[in-house]
Amino acid sequence: MTSKMPLLQITASRRIAKDVYETVLTGDTGAITRPGQFVQIRIPGFYLRRPISVCDVAGDKLIIIYKILGKGTAALAKLPVGESVELLSGLGNGFMVDDVYEKPLIVGGGVGTPPLFGLAKKIIEKGFTPDVVLGFASKDDVFYEEEFRTLGLDVYVTTNDGSYGTQGFVTDKMKDLDYDYVFTCGPMPMLKAVHGVSTDGQFSFEERMGCGFGACMCCTCESKYGPKRICKDGPILFREEIVW
Ligand SMILES: Cc1cc2nc3c(=O)[nH]c(=O)nc-3n(C[C@H](O)[C@H](O)[C@H](O)COP(=O)(O)OP(=O)(O)OC[C@H]3O[C@@H](n4cnc5c(N)ncnc54)[C@H](O)[C@@H]3O)c2cc1C
Ligand code: FES
Repeated sequence: MTSKMPLLQITASRRIAKDVYETVLTGDTGAITRPGQFVQIRIPGFYLRRPISVCDVAGDKLIIIYKILGKGTAALAKLPVGESVELLSGLGNGFMVDDVYEKPLIVGGGVGTPPLFGLAKKIIEKGFTPDVVLGFASKDDVFYEEEFRTLGLDVYVTTNDGSYGTQGFVTDKMKDLDYDYVFTCGPMPMLKAVHGVSTDGQFSFEERMGCGFGACMCCTCESKYGPKRICKDGPILFREEIVW
């Protein structure tokens, strides 16, 4: 196991959409080397750590964004500023940000959006200007549209019910855009749909996990090149190796 287990302090936390929180953790972020990696947070009172993607890192500040889905994330959202949490850090392979494309497109769905923010900054550093498509269920669920725009990117929001942005799915908006490579993260049906309309790219999977560092095999999925542990060999897979 190459990851570290530092103790980070919650230095800010705010609600940014319906049941969605942005939390800033301060401490040793040294194990995080690529966008798209994740941390496993030990929430007091829970045996299993909860995996949450790295949204952004700047020096000793780590930003995570999470939706309250069950008891663990509800308890995390209630932790006060000043509290410290132990986490396994720098997990997973992360996105490869190489110059293998001319016009990259970022596609996020719901709480699959956070890791794509740090990714967008890295792609920009490489000299590219990706368009961004973000899909949410409804207006109350939308977050980080402005944050992506602040990076100087064109951002298109879709909502399933049409209460904000364009009505429909991210794939409906993708039809209008020019791109030759997709970076995406979101729920499985969305990933599958994006896979169907794209030709090349990297897909981040947020499978249910146990250990989070490759030991228990409970996150194993099939790929074109044999079984892969999503926590260790992923969470990012190249489009061409994905088997549904
Ligand atoms: C690599 C990775 C990165 C992730 N990044 C983020 C992130 O940045 N932000 C975020 O909000 N969530 C993220 N998740 C999902 C997050 O880990 C779960 O939502 C969280 O563990 C739920 O914990 P809980 O105790 O609140 O809910 P639980 O009581 O464990 O579960 C409540 C409900 O949520 C469902 N659920 C639990 N885990 C998942 C999952 N992985 N995918 C889909 N449904 C799930 C359960 O089936 C159940 O219906 C990520 C997951 C993985 C594997
Ligand atoms: S969660 Fe244990 S091997 Fe992936």
